[in-house]
Amino acid sequence: MTALEDWDDGPFRPEAVTVRVPAKINLSLSVGPLRPDGYHELVTVFHAVSLYDEIVARAARGLSLTVEPLRRDSDVAGVPDDEHNLAWRAALLLAEYARVEPDVRLTIRKDIPVAGGMAGGSADAAAALLACDRLWGTGLRRDELHDLAARLGSDVPFALHGGTAIGSGRGEHITPVLAAAGLEWVIAVYDGGLSTPKVFETCDTRRRRDSREIPEPSVHPDLMTTLRSGDALRVGAALYNDLQPAAIELLPEIGDLLEAGRAAGAAGALVSGSGPTTVFLVDGPVSAAEVEEQLRASGLCRAVRRARGPVPGALVSNVR
Ligand code: C5P
Repeated sequence: MTALEDWDDGPFRPEAVTVRVPAKINLSLSVGPLRPDGYHELVTVFHAVSLYDEIVARAARGLSLTVEPLRRDSDVAGVPDDEHNLAWRAALLLAEYARVEPDVRLTIRKDIPVAGGMAGGSADAAAALLACDRLWGTGLRRDELHDLAARLGSDVPFALHGGTAIGSGRGEHITPVLAAAGLEWVIAVYDGGLSTPKVFETCDTRRRRDSREIPEPSVHPDLMTTLRSGDALRVGAALYNDLQPAAIELLPEIGDLLEAGRAAGAAGALVSGSGPTTVFLVDGPVSAAEVEEQLRASGLCRAVRRARGPVPGALVSNVR
């Protein structure tokens, strides 16, 4: 045996892989008609921001899942630790696709607000796909991971992608947006959750009630131009979300929060996705501090956080 063969004991199989994955907000969300499959045709501008969950995938026998807070003030209440967790389903889907055993111990360390319209569950699923792919050495191509992600949920492909990107279809078709300048956000985590299907349903009911014609979903060209400018005031004025009136109807306090942020000088104020998280675009640290203080003073938030965007999507941060 040569010295080289001595070293050759098969491919390196890690013991543990850690993936860090960001939350998303929607800079715009244009909702079209309800499709026969129960989803709405939409066009959205996704924007990944610097609030992260971390997923650790460890070599194990069988599949298990633990959920824990990443920071002392992170909340994990109500996050399932079984097959109802999308990260669990992601591991199973990858194992089935790659024809390997789903042997992994997953730990989700959460900091992305739960049920907040920031795609935390989708982010964890994207991270689990990436972590298990590395742990098991299944080596899927980017497009294969994207396809599996789309099968798991509408927001999962973007969590792999990150940055700022247009999502179309039910959100799963991703087109990157070039030259988006850095933006600073204050994020108000409302003390409670909203169900995404319920918010879409309320949006439909409101439209029927108003006998409003539903336009084809689109991105306003102003938003694309202003995003390249990086001018917070202009971007702030171009933010929009078709689900916002429905979210406010279900939880009127969200409207109060938006008002409080605007009154404190935010350049833009918006419900993130289906809510109830509200996001405030700020123009520098003084504005951020003022908005943050007013949101805290409202007494309506579980937490108020600062974040910047865009940031990259799910990334392997440690392998051992
Ligand atoms: O794809 P995902 O499982 O995240 O979607 C959750 C729910 O949100 C769907 O079951 C549907 O009620 C609603 N939804 C929708 N149209 C979309 C995306 C989500 O109606 N484009």
